[in-house]
Order: sequence, then structure tokens, then C-alpha cells
Amino acid sequence: MLQARPAPLGTRRQRAISTSALSYPVALLMAEIGDACDGPAHAMGDRIAHALRVAAAMPELLTPELRAPRNGCYARHTVAADPAGRFTLLSIVWGAGQFSPPHAHDTWCAYAVAENTLTETLYGFDPRSGKAVAAGTTEREPGYACFAPAGLEQIHRLGNATGVGAISLHAYGVEGSRVGTHVNRLMDVAERER
Ligand SMILES: [Fe+2]
Repeated sequence: MLQARPAPLGTRRQRAISTSALSYPVALLMAEIGDACDGPAHAMGDRIAHALRVAAAMPELLTPELRAPRNGCYARHTVAADPAGRFTLLSIVWGAGQFSPPHAHDTWCAYAVAENTLTETLYGFDPRSGKAVAAGTTEREPGYACFAPAGLEQIHRLGNATGVGAISLHAYGVEGSRVGTHVNRLMDVAERER
């Protein structure tokens, strides 16, 4: 159980997610995030990050298809999309040395590290140049989860600096058909900060 207070899946309110085609861990995660989206705004981020953290520790959640790497670029796999269009879940599989470009987000986003260590660089935003300025780099271990709102408050670059594969579990506040096109806003980085 992800939290102490979730109602049984069958009693959730009208926007509840059809769970028939989902594995139990995914259905539970979808329900938790759906409830967080419909709950108090001030608690939404913490609830989503918590749900992802717990789900990422469930080894049965990530099927072989959701663990498949891709040559040349990190792989993004849709775990499930909310039928109401509130959010989409992805697994991202990071091969050794694979990184995202620096980016902000056009929607809220959250992730949890599922396997191996990721490396995240955070950036500030310089409004005069319109560029991102590196603020620091941190290793993210399994058990780490975070939430960020849309906009320039969080600019980051995530990836795998180790020699073996890594996996993270992500939630984005867009419907499934837009998750490949309406999430990341690529950012230029101030030259001296690269
Ligand atoms: Fe991101």
C-alpha cells in the first residue's frame, strides 16, 4: 500500500481509472496519483513523489518491456496513461553514459530512481541572457523521488554516469498522446557554466 489512507480501488470516485488492463502495482500507482491530482494542491507534489518512490521499489512493476534499453539515447516507455488525461507514467532506461539535454518542463513532473544511480545537474535561470546556469550536480540513488511544477523553477539534466544501466519512473501532467511532445523545454546553458 502506498499510503495509509487510500480507499479501496473499487470505491474511488467517478474519475477513477479502469484497472482491468493494468498490473496491480501500476493500477495502485495510477490511483494514488489520480487522487493526488484531485486532492489539495498544496499536498499534490509530496503525494505524487511518495507514490512514485514506493512504486519504484516494487520489482514486479517494471516488466521486461519497460526495462528495455535503446542504443544511442535513453529509452522512454509508457507505463500507463490516465484515461482522464491528467498524467502519464513513463519508465526511462538510461544506458551507461546516456543523459538528457538540459531542460525545463511545460508541465508538472516527478520522478523516482528505481535501479542504479542517476546523476542530476540542477540549473538556475538567468532572465537577462535567457539561459540556464549550472547550480550543482548530485547523485540520485534508489529511494530518491522529487516533484517539480511547470516552468523555469526547475531546470535539470538527468542521466547515468555509471557503467551499467539505470531505470527511473516518471510522472508528467499531460495526456499520453502529448507526453513525447509537450513535456521538455530544452534550454541553452550559459557557456561558462557548461
Ligand atoms: Fe525533466
